[in-house]
Formats: sequence, structure tokens, C-alpha cells
Amino acid sequence: MRNIDKAYIATGFGWLILAAGFGTWLGASAHFNFSQSHAHIGLLGFVASVLFGLVHRSWPELRDRWLATAQFAVYEIGVIILLAGKVMVDATGVPNLLLMVGAPIVILGAIMFLWLFVRVPSRSVQASVLPAE
Ligand code: HEM
Repeated sequence: MRNIDKAYIATGFGWLILAAGFGTWLGASAHFNFSQSHAHIGLLGFVASVLFGLVHRSWPELRDRWLATAQFAVYEIGVIILLAGKVMVDATGVPNLLLMVGAPIVILGAIMFLWLFVRVPSRSVQASVLPAE
């Protein structure tokens, strides 16, 4: 995907808006049992997504691979499932299926990114010569 850096960063800022809104609600309504869900939305959603996007921006050769698009889908779907499970854990205090399914998908997404980053050879930097003014 050519614009995967933008897609990741835009998704990350979507997560930031959600995390900030959720944090505002939980603080204002004293629902501190949801603090960990809020933190996970911010860290797995906002921080990690923006970092993935910045890595794609810095290493453009990664985005040409089909694995980059697959990794984006796997990671973000995994985060949605995991966070839904985390909110339910904070609400009920007991583990649930969403958490158990989402966690390995998020881990798989992280492994896919590591594989992509390590396996794709870095493009050699071309020296550009600018004409003198
Ligand atoms: C408008 C933005 C935000 C508001 C209003 C907000 C509000 C809160 C509140 C009320 C708490 C609970 C404090 C307590 O338990 O005493 C909290 C905890 C926390 N927040 Fe935020 N937050 C915001 C943004 C963020 C973002 C963007 C991140 C991460 C990138 C983040 C990470 C955390 C963490 C790690 C905790 C500690 C959770 C814990 O102790 O279980 N917050 N926040």
C-alpha cells in the first residue's frame, strides 16, 4: 500500500481521540476501574500505530511488500479485538474470549512487522547532485 505510513498515522490519531475521550469520561465519572483499558487504547492504539507509520515513512521500501498491508490489517484488527476484551475485563473482573483471541493476533502483528523490517533489504541511498545556482 503506497500510503501505508499515512494510513497508520491517521489510524493512530483516531486511537488518540478515542483514548482522550475515554480518559476524560473515566476521570469525570470516577470510573477508575477502566484506567487500564484507557492506557491500552493510548499505548497499543495511538503510540504503536504512529510508530509503525513513522517507520514506514523512514523506510519506504517496506511499503512495497504485500506483507506490509497484511501486517497493518492483522495488527489493527487484533488491537480492536483485544481492547474490546480489555474493556470487558475492567467492567467484569474476569477474563474473556475476546482478550484471548485479540492478544495472539496483536503479537502476530508485531512479529510480522519485525519480520518485514529485518527481511527487507534497505534501499541504498542515492546521492543527489543539485545544480549550482
Ligand atoms: C485527554 C487526554 C487524556 C485524559 C483526560 C486522560 C485521563 C486519565 C485518567 C483520569 C487516568 C486514571 C488516573 C488514575 O487512575 O488515578 C489515566 C490513566 C492513564 N493514562 Fe490517561 N488520559 C489521557 C490521555 C492519555 C494518553 C494519550 C495515554 C497514552 C498514550 C494515556 C495513558 C495513561 C496511562 C498509562 C494511565 C495509567 C493507567 C493505570 O494506572 O492503570 N493517557 N488517564
